[in-house]
Amino acid sequence: METLSQPIKLIATAAMGLESLVKNEVIKLGYENVQTENGRIIYDADLSGIARSNLWLRTADRVKLLMGEFEAYSFEELFEQTKALPWEEWISKDGFIHVVGKSHKSKLYSVPDCQSIVKKAIVSRLQQAHNLQSRLKETGARYKVEVAILKDKVTLSLDTSGSGLHKRGYRVGQGDAPLKETLAAALVQLTNWTPDYPLVDPFTGSGTIPIEAALIGQNIAPGFNREFSAEEWDVIPSNVWEKALEEAEDLANYEQPLDITGSDISHEAVEMSKQNAMEAGLADLISWKQMQVKDFVPKSEKGYLIGNPPYGERLSDQQTVEEIYKNLGEIMASYPKWSVYIMTSYNDFESKFGKKATKKRKLFNGFIKTDYYQYFGKK
Ligand SMILES: C[S@@+](CC[C@H](N)C(=O)[O-])C[C@H]1O[C@@H](n2cnc3c(N)ncnc32)[C@H](O)[C@@H]1O
Repeated sequence: METLSQPIKLIATAAMGLESLVKNEVIKLGYENVQTENGRIIYDADLSGIARSNLWLRTADRVKLLMGEFEAYSFEELFEQTKALPWEEWISKDGFIHVVGKSHKSKLYSVPDCQSIVKKAIVSRLQQAHNLQSRLKETGARYKVEVAILKDKVTLSLDTSGSGLHKRGYRVGQGDAPLKETLAAALVQLTNWTPDYPLVDPFTGSGTIPIEAALIGQNIAPGFNREFSAEEWDVIPSNVWEKALEEAEDLANYEQPLDITGSDISHEAVEMSKQNAMEAGLADLISWKQMQVKDFVPKSEKGYLIGNPPYGERLSDQQTVEEIYKNLGEIMASYPKWSVYIMTSYNDFESKFGKKATKKRKLFNGFIKTDYYQYFGKK
């Protein structure tokens, strides 16, 4: 494999509204020159940054390697500028190259054509670099290239993650409307919970919030249980991955006691949560309970309640959810030192809960626009 010609730039992609969280995580990992754009955080890194970012970023969707950015108004320009990039430094001779694409407000609007031109340019570059007359074998490691064109500016990147980073590898079962693990981690990070306080999710579904909170509480890397595309790449020696895993093992604080509980009205949900927690290696660390929210009684004076209750999107469900919000508000009114964080798309949440939120933040749960209602407990 070739030696790299320059330091690398990584792109951590983020769901709308989560950019600042991803940025903070990237800074915490020690990377510099961190720039935030719509839906993506770009930063300087080295090879180990690919492994560490994939292993550690809790709220990012995926990590891509920025190969190049340029303007292109014709297929010829796209071809030539793609071919000018040092693909052979990354893609091995027998690499399987798969190009995906998108184009918005650009002269080059035909995505299939752009994909095929980018593929031809990369193949041509590799043939020249490796002195090959014949076709590439493409039987080896997988390289997913993305060509993204916005207002005639082309961004070429290589995906390093494989499946999205929300796939932590612990979800063996899921309920009706599970949260993406990345969003659940964001909900926890948007609170000022620290693991010395109790944390309760009374609408736990498949247990995503408590599981993500436990991983955060013990500083366990969310990606420790899965594989990433770039692990197959020759350019990253296996000891880079081994070192990143060792670091994750060293930084994990398995001794940190946790007081995290997930409950749900549904027995099946509770069973599923238990299985998911077991798969995540957190079997005894989280308490699970079948319970309706109206029976919730905080066991301590101070704590954190984080929940993603039903939203009542169908008219027929509205009365039920209003009742749930009202019950919760009445219970929590007697516990002023508890902080309550609720994500819902239901517009009139505050009036049903009976209190105005200290702070609200717009978040998307998939395509559903929601508010994250935050009630800070008294000190
Ligand atoms: C939107 S889902 C939560 C999904 C969860 N965050 C996850 O990641 O899987 C809402 C959950 O609230 C539960 N639920 C509905 N009514 C309830 C009630 N009255 N008390 C407690 N849980 C209830 C449902 O069974 C469902 O699992």
